[in-house]
Amino acid sequence: MRTVHVLQGPNLNLLGTREPGVYGTETYADAIAQCERAAAANGLVADARQSNHEGDLVDWLQEVGREVAAGRSVGAVLNPGALTHTSVAIRDAISGAQVPVVEVHLTNVHAREDFRHLSYVSPVARGVVIGLGTFGYELAVQALASLATTTQEEPR
Ligand code: DQA
Repeated sequence: MRTVHVLQGPNLNLLGTREPGVYGTETYADAIAQCERAAAANGLVADARQSNHEGDLVDWLQEVGREVAAGRSVGAVLNPGALTHTSVAIRDAISGAQVPVVEVHLTNVHAREDFRHLSYVSPVARGVVIGLGTFGYELAVQALASLATTTQEEPR
């Protein structure tokens, strides 16, 4: 069974308690459970990881690139958190490792502060889901599953 990777960046481990008026009351564990259910419904298994460190995300994206090339992963759902707006390294990892990425933001970043309007990731993402809360992760898992059936074969 192929994997869908779910990678989240800084502070997303605090979901549920972090500014609930902005990010809602669903916890990080709730979000992962939702991804696991969506993965299973699409014949995939979810590999969910979170880190507060940019380099971890770069390492993981490179790893996902190798897994995709080997036919074992359909790509990554990626919420880079604040690194979205700062990280050339994450953008370069996505393009360098040729990772199919669906970028997700819980909040509508375009309705927030100006510094959140720029994403270094969006130009190299396969698609972007913003503003739909944790439901966005579910949609992103579904999208990667669907894209993979048209672009990749199951490994023998
Ligand atoms: C976020 C939006 C970012 O601007 C912010 O820094 C986050 C979360 C979101 O999911 O809405 O940490 O990526």
